[in-house]
Amino acid sequence: MPEPFRVGLTRDFLTDDGRIGWGDIGLSRLDEAALDDGVVWDFLPAAEDGELAAADVAGYDALIVLGPRVTAATVADADRLSLVARFGVGYDNVDVAACTEAGVLVTITPDGVRRPVAVSALTLLLALSHRVLDKDRLVRTGRWNDKLDHMGVSPSGRTLGLIGWGNIGREVSRLCEPLGMTQLAADPYADPQAAAARGVELVELEDLLARADFAVVTCALTPQTHHLLDAGRLALMKPTAFLVNVARGPIVEQSALTEVLAERRIAGAALDVLEAEPPHPDDPLLSLPNVLLAPHAIAWTDELALGNGEGAIAAVLDLASGREPAHPVNPQALDHPRLRARIRHSRKAVR
Ligand SMILES: NC(=O)c1ccc[n+]([C@@H]2O[C@H](COP(=O)([O-])OP(=O)(O)OC[C@H]3O[C@@H](n4cnc5c(N)ncnc54)[C@H](O)[C@@H]3O)[C@@H](O)[C@H]2O)c1
Repeated sequence: MPEPFRVGLTRDFLTDDGRIGWGDIGLSRLDEAALDDGVVWDFLPAAEDGELAAADVAGYDALIVLGPRVTAATVADADRLSLVARFGVGYDNVDVAACTEAGVLVTITPDGVRRPVAVSALTLLLALSHRVLDKDRLVRTGRWNDKLDHMGVSPSGRTLGLIGWGNIGREVSRLCEPLGMTQLAADPYADPQAAAARGVELVELEDLLARADFAVVTCALTPQTHHLLDAGRLALMKPTAFLVNVARGPIVEQSALTEVLAERRIAGAALDVLEAEPPHPDDPLLSLPNVLLAPHAIAWTDELALGNGEGAIAAVLDLASGREPAHPVNPQALDHPRLRARIRHSRKAVR
């Protein structure tokens, strides 16, 4: 009888009363695998100070990780651990280099986030263009008849500028097609032929900012994109333009954006992500009427929960069956002798 393949989920999936706060994340598939593939799963201990300790992960073959940090100390002595499956696509809480060193594969779930985050970007864009927040306030404050002073701006016929044309950016592109928008994208790594085939004009960021009516940030946060939208670049935007950010807060220099919004040098912004999360209660951005905010959760829907769960669980089950999981962040970890040996071992064990 082979050893079971042990999977640990981080405890922050659970609410205080022991429910899975995300709803259905596809755990039935892990339960089925308990019978078919000898996979067992449970929740890890709560991560002290937000970091998983070596003792927390001892004896596990794979982890499904939501928020806690996975550091060099977490994985250094983890002799069984083969996989950290991130529930989502951001992996700033995982020390990838340390995982590679330790022979631990890190995977993400781009199939889970693509549609829900792209729909979120569209939701924010439409909320801005149709002035949803303003109109809600008109009704609640007895100003029903002020509606003529609050005309919206239809996206149709206007210019969409996607800053980042990756997994999510391309999906925003697809979703916006029926709206009849001119589409621009700025992404130094995007394939110009693929963009042209979709009717998207790849341009320099400065050009995009000067032309876009709706600039949508969907690029990765890297040292190069930190404060990519700084005061100088924000100054290029049209006074009628809107900014949407569903990627990461630090891509936009928030103090500069606050100034630009306060002085109405752009029309408005919708931000799911901020430089400091949560923001300081006195952050001047919070008192501006032309900004719409969400707590890094505009994409949190049943579709996202199930899609991310299924992606992470698929990675776990692939590895348990001796297959290479999809969407590795550090594929070079597969060359690590310990991980190669584990994959061979799993293949034999499953047969
Ligand atoms: N708000 C949320 O809940 C949420 C959820 C999922 C992902 N995200 C964020 O969205 C980002 C994008 O996700 P994805 O799945 O599309 O990732 P992805 O890796 O497929 O796409 C990122 C794109 O950014 C581009 N890029 C890199 N440097 C750039 C630069 N200097 N200028 C313009 N583009 C640049 C890359 O070439 C790539 O095409 C993630 O990195 C994550 O931070 C947010």
